[in-house]
Amino acid sequence: MEAYLSEWLALLVRWFHVIAGVAWIGASFYFIWLDNHLKEPPEWKKKEGIKGDLWAIHGGGFYEIAKYKLGPPEMPKELHWFKWEAYSTLLSGLAMLFVVYYMGSPGYLIDPAKADLSIGQAMAIGLGAIAAVLVIYEALIRSPLADNGKAFGLIFFAILLLADWALFQVFSGRGAYIHVGAIIGTIMVANVFLGIIPSQWALVRSVGKGREPDERVARLAMLAKLRSTHNNYLTLPILFIMISNHYPVLYSHTHGWAILAAIGFITAFARHYFNLRHRDIHKPWILVVSALLTIALIWAVAPAPRSETAASDAPVVSDEAVMTVVNTHCTACHASQPSHPAFQSPPAGIELKDTEALTTYGARILQVAVDSHYMPLGNVTGMTEEERQQLGQWLTENGSGK
Ligand code: HEC
Repeated sequence: MEAYLSEWLALLVRWFHVIAGVAWIGASFYFIWLDNHLKEPPEWKKKEGIKGDLWAIHGGGFYEIAKYKLGPPEMPKELHWFKWEAYSTLLSGLAMLFVVYYMGSPGYLIDPAKADLSIGQAMAIGLGAIAAVLVIYEALIRSPLADNGKAFGLIFFAILLLADWALFQVFSGRGAYIHVGAIIGTIMVANVFLGIIPSQWALVRSVGKGREPDERVARLAMLAKLRSTHNNYLTLPILFIMISNHYPVLYSHTHGWAILAAIGFITAFARHYFNLRHRDIHKPWILVVSALLTIALIWAVAPAPRSETAASDAPVVSDEAVMTVVNTHCTACHASQPSHPAFQSPPAGIELKDTEALTTYGARILQVAVDSHYMPLGNVTGMTEEERQQLGQWLTENGSGK
């Protein structure tokens, strides 16, 4: 019953997290699009202090949007702020860390082959890493480095790379990925909470008093712009991390941290093309390079081909022998009624009850239990390399080696 209810809790929190994330990133994409499509307004609008306008049609109506150079002559009664999308994404994301990883299935997070952590230690490392990177980022953006956007970007990337590598040394691949995601997400929300919103408040206050923004307000606006640029480049990488838990082929790879870094770099680079294009600077080679890098990555992380001859030299693995391996290492979880207390139903819907089921899921099993050590989750059953080879050989001989 407990496992069943926590499954529902995980579902509801995850669902909410996705909804909040869609609302946040969607609003963010929309405003970037708006800013980039504003056109010079007619004279009469300029006289009212409007610096750009655009027309749109959506949902059966026309919209006229105007952006003021500074602010409207009079503060509107109701001014919409966009911040709860970001805050609720962070809060639900943190809740998910607890529900899914810290309390739900520590097997997603802890890999005893890397570090045999207690759940308390894993939490301390995970939450500590998020807090540490946040503190460093906030210190840097308040330092003179903030005046050099390019240097800041490079150093920031190096810090994320270091965190990615370090977390991968102590956590399972999946746990490391999700913590890098949590670090990036926390920084993005801090950018809203500690930089963008305070700068908007300062602007609202000076406009309210009918003043031109002074130097302090202008500096806040400059830093808010830098923070928002960082968020812009981080959106595609963080969306990748949000869906990455479906791809053990990436995070369970020996060099999973480098794969994550490469994908982060490529997606941020591709984003750069669109950012430039919005400013009417066309550099299509950026997209070409991103595509070539992606192809190179796909090629570089491909599992080594299984050699048929090696398999034929080894003694044939019988059906009984392979089922002994599966029953020892898989069926505590992958059964219609798992005996493992954390699961109420077979994880990923995969029931490994006979050799037929093995061939059905063969390609995926090879990926997660032979080519990588993702399964058994956290190697709870202590599966040996020899047993993995036996499983791999049986699957190859029975037509799943492709
Ligand atoms: C402790 C419980 C546990 C054990 C033991 C276990 N698994 Fe899993 N398995 C899971 C969970 C949980 C998932 C879902 C993982 C996810 O969502 O990424 C899963 C997913 C899978 C998948 C689907 C992966 C994918 O994303 O395509 C395969 C295949 C698999 N397991 C095979 C095995 C095999 C083979 C064994 C035995 C060698 C095994 N598992 C042992 C818990 C377990």
